[in-house]
Amino acid sequence: MTQTPSIPRTAVVPAAGLGTRFLPATKTVPKELLPVVDTPGIELVAEEAAEGGAERLCIITSPGKDGVVAHFVEDLVLEGTLEKRGKQAMLDKVRRAPNLIKVEAVVQDKPLGLGHAVACVEPYLDDDEDAISVLLPDDLVLPIGVLTTMAKVRAKRGGSVLCAIEVPKDRISAYGVFDVEVVPDATNPDVLKVNGMVEKPKAEDAPSNYAAAGRYLLDRAVFDAIRRVGKGAGGEIQLTDAIALMIAEGHPVHVVVHRGTRHDLGNPGGYLKAAVDLALDRDDYGPDLRAWLEKRLTR
Ligand code: G1P
Repeated sequence: MTQTPSIPRTAVVPAAGLGTRFLPATKTVPKELLPVVDTPGIELVAEEAAEGGAERLCIITSPGKDGVVAHFVEDLVLEGTLEKRGKQAMLDKVRRAPNLIKVEAVVQDKPLGLGHAVACVEPYLDDDEDAISVLLPDDLVLPIGVLTTMAKVRAKRGGSVLCAIEVPKDRISAYGVFDVEVVPDATNPDVLKVNGMVEKPKAEDAPSNYAAAGRYLLDRAVFDAIRRVGKGAGGEIQLTDAIALMIAEGHPVHVVVHRGTRHDLGNPGGYLKAAVDLALDRDDYGPDLRAWLEKRLTR
């Protein structure tokens, strides 16, 4: 029997941003801790990494965002109190995050861009780690599982593999956009070969409507590429530019087109949709929310 390939041992979650689109809430609360129903976005991402087979989560934080990592630390006082009161369901919820995956903090001291944030993890990798996964916590990609599909593609085709979603032209300029071609021998039509990638192009310059959806399996060669790219879109060191450089130098890159749901937790509108979407599926809040929404929509 063939075993399903795991994603790389280390999963990287860049969480050093200021969360400006979420002010004033993010003045004191990191956006990664805002609850999607009752669970912080960062815990959902940790769950996805753990399910994919990662063994440790490196969270890239900035000074003042310690709370993001603290969410994964056991709170024995709180646990003791809940235990004494016989609150087993709450206790299970509190214990979940610390038991998901080993979490380490890596500090990015200057906000120099996503590429720079990812590069901060390189000194913490072991010599035998030939790849990493990167999960952007703004992107909620459902149902969980695309990383496993990406790992299968990497096992078969080598190089690096990213996740793509189709985005309408009028919104494409908010994304990293792929120049793609069909893989002639692909058994999965949603696997495409990438010939180039550009960060936040103008709609008329976008090479396709396939956009990067915040999930990456990157060969270790990415660190060398990040060192060699200069500042890109927004004056930042872009991960997209490093990937484009790797492609230009012959490194194989493929995408898996995700056909499920993707929510953007990084802005209030997308975050609300995610919360409603997840709440509707829950037994505790779903039925009441649905009834209220139906009534509210007729108003
Ligand atoms: C980042 C990446 C971009 C990607 C997007 C997905 O952009 O740079 O390539 O398409 O995430 O959410 P950001 O949204 O952080 O500006």
